[in-house]
Amino acid sequence: MSHLVAPSLLAADFANLASEVEMINDSVADWLHLDIMDGVFVPNISFGFPVVEAVRDLSVKPLDVHLMIVDPDRYLERFRDAGATNLTVHYETCHNLHRTVTEIRRLGMKAGVTLNPHSPVMLLKDILPYIDMVLLMTVNPGYGGQTFIPGSINKIGELRSMIDEGGYDVMIEVDGGIDLQNAPVLVHAGVDVLVAGSTVFSSSDPVEVIRRLREPV
Ligand code: DX5
Ligand code: ZN
Repeated sequence: MSHLVAPSLLAADFANLASEVEMINDSVADWLHLDIMDGVFVPNISFGFPVVEAVRDLSVKPLDVHLMIVDPDRYLERFRDAGATNLTVHYETCHNLHRTVTEIRRLGMKAGVTLNPHSPVMLLKDILPYIDMVLLMTVNPGYGGQTFIPGSINKIGELRSMIDEGGYDVMIEVDGGIDLQNAPVLVHAGVDVLVAGSTVFSSSDPVEVIRRLREPV
């Protein structure tokens, strides 16, 4: 089984962002995951357009942008212009989700929908034909370095069945508390993309950690 790895920049050294992005460029990472937090939907604020644009200019990897913001419709085009290849919105923030994901695709990006740990995967049943990826949160969003919620494994299997039985072309991405121990278990459960922040950036050899996270299982 082959899968992708998307390091999350949230855990990087922001005083040395250019060298952190260069490290990702030199690694086998597939995407670079960027976490946008508004201090309203989640209890933390991360970074906004100027940082995304600066990273776009340095990164050779596609930008996988995860919006943890209320009313994301206001900013879809600006994130496209800032360099997003994939744009993922939270199910919990969208009142007209079909409209939102249709607009993301119209703007030329891959459309993703994220579920918080408390949201059942069945909520996605009718949106799966219209999206490119589902991002399952395996921690409560807002911070890096949290502990993986074990019950998430069941959700992966359930979602994999929904996608396969429907014949949809939708990737499953997981985000939060991913490390070298749980990564193979997650891939076996049906995950296509692993997001990892602190596991990568707190290592003394992040390029090697990315390589190991990406090893076929
Ligand atoms: C959490 C973010 C994650 C975070 C993951 O709200 O969505 O992308 O950076 O960090 P780790 O891998 O440290 O749990
Ligand atoms: Zn994220």
